[in-house]
Amino acid sequence: PLLEFSRKTSHMINPNIRKDEKKVVDFLEVEDLASEKVSFCRCWKSEKFPYCDGAHREHNEETGDNIGPVVIKRKAK
Ligand code: FES
Repeated sequence: PLLEFSRKTSHMINPNIRKDEKKVVDFLEVEDLASEKVSFCRCWKSEKFPYCDGAHREHNEETGDNIGPVVIKRKAK
């Protein structure tokens, strides 16, 4: 059981963000963009989650991972 627990948690990418929720989902409308583009975190390490603050760079260096943000751009009219 300990090995099974270890295997499950070793792949967990979200260490501490909103763990009281069963599934973390954020809905945003494109009109909500305050600037030309917004970057959303996919590494779960951002201090400004759901926004990317660049923390993925350190995560990638430490783990050899290649995670980057989702970048949403405001569509030109
Ligand atoms: Fe998480 Fe950039 S800080 S993807």
